[in-house]
Amino acid sequence: MAEVTDTTTPPDPTEALAGELFADANSTLTLFSVFLGTRLGVYEVLAAAGTQTAGELAARTETDERYVREWLEHQTVSGILAIDDERAAADERRYSLPEAYEPLLVDADSLYYLAPLARAAAGLVGPLDDIVEAYRTGAGVPFADYGANLHEGLAAMNRPSFLHLLGEAWLPSVPDVHERLSSATPTRVADIGCGHGWSSIGIARAYPNVRVDGYDLDEASVAAATENAEAYGVADRITFAVRDASDPELEGAYDLVTAFECVHDMADPVGALATMRRLANGDGIVLVMDERVGDEFTAEADELEQFLYGCSVFHCLPAGRVGEHSAATGTVMRTDTLRGYADDAGFGTFEVLPIENEFWRFYRLEA
Ligand SMILES: C[S@@+](CC[C@H](N)C(=O)[O-])C[C@H]1O[C@@H](n2cnc3c(N)ncnc32)[C@H](O)[C@@H]1O
Repeated sequence: MAEVTDTTTPPDPTEALAGELFADANSTLTLFSVFLGTRLGVYEVLAAAGTQTAGELAARTETDERYVREWLEHQTVSGILAIDDERAAADERRYSLPEAYEPLLVDADSLYYLAPLARAAAGLVGPLDDIVEAYRTGAGVPFADYGANLHEGLAAMNRPSFLHLLGEAWLPSVPDVHERLSSATPTRVADIGCGHGWSSIGIARAYPNVRVDGYDLDEASVAAATENAEAYGVADRITFAVRDASDPELEGAYDLVTAFECVHDMADPVGALATMRRLANGDGIVLVMDERVGDEFTAEADELEQFLYGCSVFHCLPAGRVGEHSAATGTVMRTDTLRGYADDAGFGTFEVLPIENEFWRFYRLEA
């Protein structure tokens, strides 16, 4: 029997990486093109009004027709928008947003809503020159310097989960917490690092006898959270305040203390967890939600971890290094890292909760 030989030549690694980097550059520009579409309200108009020419769309969105035409063509060659007749004259071509893409690009309540990712990505690299300099000096880059694109983008990304899953699935799956929050006796929740307040609002909407105090270091986020609570009709049961989570003077006695996607951002996570333990006042529960990363570093990390390292390189690590003696955690906070912080903050029990989620891991800490 003749021997079978492999005649295929292995891919040239230089060519292979060149191809990957070009594809990455292409995807980056597509993402920023989504940013433009989102900021200019173009997807909403396409979803509501149906197929449009560049001129019609420009008139409806109060934008410049020539720019809009270029954007429409880019979105079409990038596979996002559909076109009726590509051979029509440029100003007569009609474009549309496929219905299947509306949850991703238009429906802010959908769990598929990904448009804010483009905004957050723009925010992540907002102070790029400062980030370069920080790499030289070891200094931090303040959260506020990343601007509205970052904090509004992040808030809009997490909003659907907080308004729908948090009170309808995540908290109900922890029976004693759910029971305590559902009790007829008023209960109190402290939401640390609350950002734009969507987690606080989600809890207040799901549990009518709960009062929530949300704390965050970022003034713009606290102002947005206050407006959001008013818009959602729960301002009478929620207060928001600008506070550092590691402030030893932060006082209160709460049934539940939450920290959603923020412990890894904190310069002093042990100090913040010690505050949370104090606020939980003996028999309260501390619930931390943070990124679902692997248990240890591996070069074969999955796509989510690759993405989280990207967030860390540009934002979470520099933002978390502001202040003296920062723990410099970064986005990729592994379970053992948090367990170590919880031990140092004096917690007696540390448990990973069995809440299934692609992106988040939930931890329960008790005195
Ligand atoms: C990634 S954002 C998450 C916001 C919100 N919890 C969410 O999930 O949408 C992290 C938040 O932590 C806040 N933060 C960072 N360090 C803090 C500290 N020491 N005290 C209070 N908030 C802090 C930031 O201002 C930011 O709003």
